[in-house]
Amino acid sequence: MIAIVENASLKAYNTFGLDVKARWLGRFASVDELAEAAEWVGERPLLVLGGGSNVLFRGDFNGVVLLNEIRGIELIDEDEDYVYVRAGAGESWDGLVQYCIGRDWAGLENLSLIPGNAGAAPMQNIGAYGVEIRDVFWDLEAWNLAERRVQTFTPDDCEFGYRESVFKRRLRGQYVILNLVLRLRKQPIFHTSYGALREELGDRELGIRAISEAVIRIRRSKLPDPAEIGNAGSFFKNPTVPVARFEELKGKFPEMVAYPAEGGNMKLAAGWLIEQCGWKGFRRGDAGVHARQALVLVNYGNATGEEIYALSEEVLQSVQDRFGVSLEREVNII
Ligand code: FAD
Ligand code: EPU
Repeated sequence: MIAIVENASLKAYNTFGLDVKARWLGRFASVDELAEAAEWVGERPLLVLGGGSNVLFRGDFNGVVLLNEIRGIELIDEDEDYVYVRAGAGESWDGLVQYCIGRDWAGLENLSLIPGNAGAAPMQNIGAYGVEIRDVFWDLEAWNLAERRVQTFTPDDCEFGYRESVFKRRLRGQYVILNLVLRLRKQPIFHTSYGALREELGDRELGIRAISEAVIRIRRSKLPDPAEIGNAGSFFKNPTVPVARFEELKGKFPEMVAYPAEGGNMKLAAGWLIEQCGWKGFRRGDAGVHARQALVLVNYGNATGEEIYALSEEVLQSVQDRFGVSLEREVNII
């Protein structure tokens, strides 16, 4: 029987560093252990956690938290152009990225240094510096909690979107991702159109290591390290608006930062909108808005989840009042 601990602190298991408790806490390292744990969970509320780097607990969790510790990285197939790599959901994402870069398997370099585990990466179709996991995603296996069986999800089944997937919306809470397969290139294709990345690379010779290192430098320069300041990365998504709406906004706010997005829409830089509302560097108690990246809400030590959530409400409201734009939270609110 897997071990279940009662009234366990989750402070070490969420990167906001919130001192909340789970009524029960357990872990599983295989599908058999998960099946056993799920049996025990029964009708209790369940939350599966990887690295806890994209969650905000508004309070204690009156249910079972299960930590996914399924390990293993394996080359399962290859052809002339590609390698197919399977990773257990409990592998560290950046560990996987560096493992692949070390073998000259290309495609993950722009996604270097994103915290968390491999299993949560499809959950919000993680992305950075012009690449999303869907660009290299092949398939995944997930445990259907209601039907107690393993199911395979193709890219179409995952319904990936910008920071979205079927697991974050339509099938939320119904599946536990066990492993995923990525299709990586033997000959790299470089993605260097993201402005900050192009600048950072300068006239360095291109290669997957050079790109990974540049991404890491940029990230370290503006994103707070959760080991030092609690945070969960971007708290909100960058909002998407139709071009006509953007033109209207641009007329009123000529400095507004935006990029072309899917479907002929424009993606507005939420960090810019929030900064314009005066929040950058704001602090109340231990809850704040990061001084170098206004899209990141932070816990300087002893903030509560409720304080951070309340701050996010104020930020959201001020952007609505000033620009008439609705921000949506990216972080999973528990
Ligand atoms: P968790 O926080 O543990 O879980 C997130 C959600 O997924 C929860 O709802 C959880 O229940 C669910 N979940 C977790 N594992 C599973 C599973 N096996 N099966 C089913 N559901 C599961 N994200 C980006 O996309 N791009 C970035 O550039 C980026 N930068 C970041 C920088 C910092 C400093 C931080 C702290 C976060 C950043 N993030 C970024 C967000 C975060 O790293 C990613 O969302 C990451 O994939 C979360 O992984 P995790 O294991 O920590 O997930
Ligand atoms: N900006 C400001 N002020 C700020 C922050 C940003 O004006 O305080 C403007 C700047 O003009 C900047 C632009 O916004 O050029 C974009 O900023 P940045 O390059 O930092 O990216 P972002 O849009 O804020 C997104 C992702 C990040 C990802 C980076 C790099 C979302 C919600 N966030 O941030 O992902 O790492 O791009 O690709 O899409 C995450 O999801 O947790 C995350 C960190």
